[in-house]
Amino acid sequence: MKQSLSVNMAMTLDGKVMLPDGTWHGLTSPTDRQRMDEHRSRAQALIVGRNSVEKDNPRFTLRDGTPGPRPVMVCRSRLPTENLRIFEAEPLIIAASSLQSQAGHLKNRAELYFSDALSPSDILSELHHRQYNRILLEGGPTLNASDFAADLVDQLFITIVPYILGQNDLPGIVTMQQCIENFDQRSWTLVQCEKIENEIFTEYHRSKN
Ligand SMILES: NC(=O)c1ccc[n+]([C@@H]2O[C@H](COP(=O)([O-])OP(=O)(O)OC[C@H]3O[C@@H](n4cnc5c(N)ncnc54)[C@H](OP(=O)(O)O)[C@@H]3O)[C@@H](O)[C@H]2O)c1
Repeated sequence: MKQSLSVNMAMTLDGKVMLPDGTWHGLTSPTDRQRMDEHRSRAQALIVGRNSVEKDNPRFTLRDGTPGPRPVMVCRSRLPTENLRIFEAEPLIIAASSLQSQAGHLKNRAELYFSDALSPSDILSELHHRQYNRILLEGGPTLNASDFAADLVDQLFITIVPYILGQNDLPGIVTMQQCIENFDQRSWTLVQCEKIENEIFTEYHRSKN
């Protein structure tokens, strides 16, 4: 079965995905939450960034009480702190082999898999090996950057929320030092755009030949 990788993010009218305090609290409407659940219910695995999980401490069960896709976190420089809701959802933590000796606090809390192959395509291969083929990625922008730079994303769902934050250094859906190589040859096709109340829900597909 072919694997697909979708990204789901919400951003403000000025393209920001994070508040100055490093969270996204208070900017999500009930409709966006419902859409997020719909995307999650179609996925088998949900890749999340460690910073996002530590900052926002999200819930991973869907609002109808069903478990949702399995959360997957990739850690290269350190492991997550202990008291996070992600541990209620039987996460898979894929971590650098060098972190194995520091993982005592996570034993019995998560499935731990240690490896030195931690590039975005290595992670997708590992998930494919585990028969997770419909993958959702919910950032944040640092983690998103690697997958967009490697051109691994097939579908992009963006919700535009009606706020303007300003502040130059707040990131958009992708944050990286350099411009994505050949970005002008990597076009995206808008396949859906829907206005619901005060928000816009878009769906883009990467136009690959
Ligand atoms: N608006 C939205 O829809 C939305 C959605 C999600 C998150 N957010 C916001 O995003 C913010 C956090 O974003 P963030 O950019 O600071 O962090 P992030 O993307 O959530 O997490 C970054 C961490 O992921 C790990 N990672 C693992 N593999 C990676 C790879 N291949 N490339 C890059 N990083 C990798 C890194 O940890 P190691 O160094 O240990 O590898 C890195 O420090 C939060 O404020 C949250 O509110 C917003």
